[in-house]
Amino acid sequence: MKTSKFLTSILSITLTGVAIAASAQVSGKHYTISNEHRVKAIQDTETPAQRDARMAWWRAARFGMFIHWGLYSIPAGTWNGKQVPGIGEWIMNRGSIPVADYKALAAKFDPTDFNAHDIVALAKAAGMKYIVITSKHHDGFAMFDSKADPFNIVGATPFHRDPLKELAEECRKQGIKLGFYYSQDQDWTAPGGAAYKTGNHDRPDHHWDPAQDGNFADYLHKKAIPQLKELLANYGEFPAVIWFDTPTADMTPELAGEIVELLNQHPNLIWNNRLGGGYNGDTETPEQYIPAQGYPGRDWESCMTINDTWGYKSYDTNFKSTETLLRNLIDIASKGGNYLLNIGPDSKGDVPQPEVARLRAMGKWLDVNGEAIYDTKATLFGTEAGSLSKTEKDQDGKPKFIPAWNWRSTTAPDKIYIELFTWPRGSFHLDSVPREVTGAYLLADKNHTRLKVTKTGSGIDVALPDMAPDPIATVLVLTTGAPYAAVKGVRAAS
Ligand code: GLC
Repeated sequence: MKTSKFLTSILSITLTGVAIAASAQVSGKHYTISNEHRVKAIQDTETPAQRDARMAWWRAARFGMFIHWGLYSIPAGTWNGKQVPGIGEWIMNRGSIPVADYKALAAKFDPTDFNAHDIVALAKAAGMKYIVITSKHHDGFAMFDSKADPFNIVGATPFHRDPLKELAEECRKQGIKLGFYYSQDQDWTAPGGAAYKTGNHDRPDHHWDPAQDGNFADYLHKKAIPQLKELLANYGEFPAVIWFDTPTADMTPELAGEIVELLNQHPNLIWNNRLGGGYNGDTETPEQYIPAQGYPGRDWESCMTINDTWGYKSYDTNFKSTETLLRNLIDIASKGGNYLLNIGPDSKGDVPQPEVARLRAMGKWLDVNGEAIYDTKATLFGTEAGSLSKTEKDQDGKPKFIPAWNWRSTTAPDKIYIELFTWPRGSFHLDSVPREVTGAYLLADKNHTRLKVTKTGSGIDVALPDMAPDPIATVLVLTTGAPYAAVKGVRAAS
């Protein structure tokens, strides 16, 4: 039997009731089916149907709230009277702040304005379906009650409250999922914690204070893994998501495997591609950008700030417009991804008003048009997103993708949604439609007044009113019968 057929037949075998989604190494006549992981993660062992079930709520959600909140909100971008460049939560690293000086911030942290109900209500008003909050960022400060390490918000501050516990209770009440971001690798205040290099931190471990020195495995065994156990055990049905960040070479496959063994005890958990140790997790995590064509066949989530910083900075007022934020959400949904949009509360626990205003405006649009975003699939077209330049190259020397911003599309089983950014004169034209169009109306029109559809060959023209109902994005709904292919008795591509 030819190797390739041999491999295909073997790979299609379901062994011990579990499909092995594996890379097979064939050596001579013997072969070993093995995943690249000594400790198999759920993604290595579950069937596609099991994975679809586990990811279902997350894929339908499309829109989540990221919260970056911690001690860094006290300096808020300024240290010893000087503004420290870069994102606010990196101030300890970029400012080369000694461990003892940074840890002294805890005694000043008393965010009495923090109100879990209001934050969860804001997420809901924005149309967000899940929240991911920093439980411990790279500075090593735990925003939760941790017995594993005293440098935490309950034990080391006058606040003495556990915001994650309060958020969990509110998310439960208000029907929204809660996830935890955890910096499993970088930890700038725990001996042995890793550090990415900034500035002149030229030592091999990029530390800037001898108090940071120690053994990475010891840090993992004494702090990170015990805290992950606390986060997975102490908040009821949450976390629904664990959001790892910034892995380094210190995170060997063996050490990552110890964390995976912990994650495997929570079979509904969703976790991202930033654990390290060769594990890709469930989701790609493009940061501050939207991939030109998404990641076909892979779950992905674009995380983005509303201004330019994740953690609060008092002087970062570069807030994106509501138009940009909404069109980002629509663009991402049209490519089959999720939008994780960040807020950065200040040191009193208040959310910056410009962020509140934008999120509420997004929610108003979603109140009318959410059907075109939630629980939809990616576009059936694709060319609307833009095209590859025939002359310009990107930084990798490949043809540069030039985005177009006239319209996007999302898909439901019996509808095609067209989100119109520029309002066409008279009618909207499609050269070809992969489904039989049975009617058309504007989603914002409560009466769903039928619009005139003219078929031109394999395409259509839909007559539109002179004025766009929404200046940012108006949704045109094309009602569709079964996909053409199904009409001919062939199962249409999903
Ligand atoms: C980067 C930053 C980190 C931030 C994360 C959000 O990894 O290092 O501070 O939390 O992006 O995606």
